[in-house]
Amino acid sequence: MSSLTIGSALPADWDELMDALLGAFSGGWLNHPPFDALYPDALVPTPECLRDIIVAKRGGRIVGGVQFVRQRLRLGGGTELLNGGVGQVFCIPEERKGGVMTATLGAAIAAMETAGCHVSLLGGDRQRYRRFGWENAGQMRHYALTARAIDDGGGAGRGGGAAAGGICGTPRRWHHDAATLDRFHAALDARPFGVARSRDQLAATLRRPGTALWTLDAADGFAGILLAGNTVSEYGGQPAAFAALLANLVGRNGLSADIAGHDGPDPLDAVLWRHAATFAVHQAGMVRVFRVGAILEAFRPLLERRLCEWQGEVVFAVCDGDAVCERVLVRRPGGGRLRVQTLAASDGAGTARVEAFSRAEWAPLLFGPFPPPAAARVQDERFVRLAFPLPLLWPPTAHV
Ligand SMILES: CC(C)(COP(=O)(O)OP(=O)(O)OC[C@H]1O[C@@H](n2cnc3c(N)ncnc32)[C@H](O)[C@@H]1OP(=O)(O)O)[C@@H](O)C(=O)NCCC(=O)NCCS
Repeated sequence: MSSLTIGSALPADWDELMDALLGAFSGGWLNHPPFDALYPDALVPTPECLRDIIVAKRGGRIVGGVQFVRQRLRLGGGTELLNGGVGQVFCIPEERKGGVMTATLGAAIAAMETAGCHVSLLGGDRQRYRRFGWENAGQMRHYALTARAIDDGGGAGRGGGAAAGGICGTPRRWHHDAATLDRFHAALDARPFGVARSRDQLAATLRRPGTALWTLDAADGFAGILLAGNTVSEYGGQPAAFAALLANLVGRNGLSADIAGHDGPDPLDAVLWRHAATFAVHQAGMVRVFRVGAILEAFRPLLERRLCEWQGEVVFAVCDGDAVCERVLVRRPGGGRLRVQTLAASDGAGTARVEAFSRAEWAPLLFGPFPPPAAARVQDERFVRLAFPLPLLWPPTAHV
């Protein structure tokens, strides 16, 4: 048998790759939609996209592959993390159980490291992906929405209707006009949480099957809600217009919302809250943490606030078996600012307590939704309780 070669997909591979994906995923479903039709924003034969599709070939034939999509996640307070959203993990049926997926995932992990990804999110089996460092983690709020809004003094009034906010206008489903796209793009960009996209990337996302953008454009306010099926996935705009739009949509159909769990009040989230019949928190996805130091540095403004009463020093170590992959010193001397410093192999830990966990354990420790059993080993419990979980989100319309 010829050997396996692993590398980025080439333009000439495109048609074979689309066929191989269908063959691997669709079983006997003869009219399964082509994969590039399912992900028109993420699976396109551009050089940038092909670079991040890792294919395994044997004798020149594609036998497996995996894709990662670079996504900038905006996580409040100006913090952005680069996510490698993973999808299209496949191996053709006749090559299965021969290590193809193990090899392509290994190459994708190396490529995401080189790309500077802070995290990687995917939707999939814990039993399959945990040994590569992914673990269920993150906290997304899930609301089941009802037309009967509660009145908790927020001003939307019983029913949360359009009249209460003084908004008159007719919700419309978006039909590809550029002006509405521009307004929705600007409204999403103004949100503290979300996926940072160009206008063209957003336009492509709106072509995903099963998505629908509804907008309300009234004289005194604009709002837009992007649905993935019946789930409110991404949204923005002026609060009264948003309240009117949401009240109208939930009045027509049962909806739910998968939104970021985060600190602090947000006027649009308060509107969703008023329409929530039930609340739940679920994981953002399976999360692989790349560099703990870079993540803590990105969240430093939030950590400064959360840890304002904490003083001391602690070393975070990421372990792979007996090997230590990364050590990060976090310290705040009395009255000083919080410092995050990645230690070189030769640096000692001094007197700092050392928190050592595997990569898969770090994901829920940093991002929740609750601490993993390994958290019983935490040395500086106060630090961990004050600092974590950090916010993370992966809206359904960003899944790959
Ligand atoms: C899932 C899939 C990609 C696996 O490809 P593969 O090349 O056969 O995988 P490998 O040979 O590297 O590994 C074979 C199995 O042994 C497991 N394995 C390999 N090394 C292992 C180890 N050291 N310890 C424990 N398990 C191990 C793998 O997890 C895999 O199990 P799984 O198929 O239940 O995940 C392939 O079956 C496929 O294409 N399925 C259809 C598409 C699909 O479901 N994709 C995943 C979407 S989330």
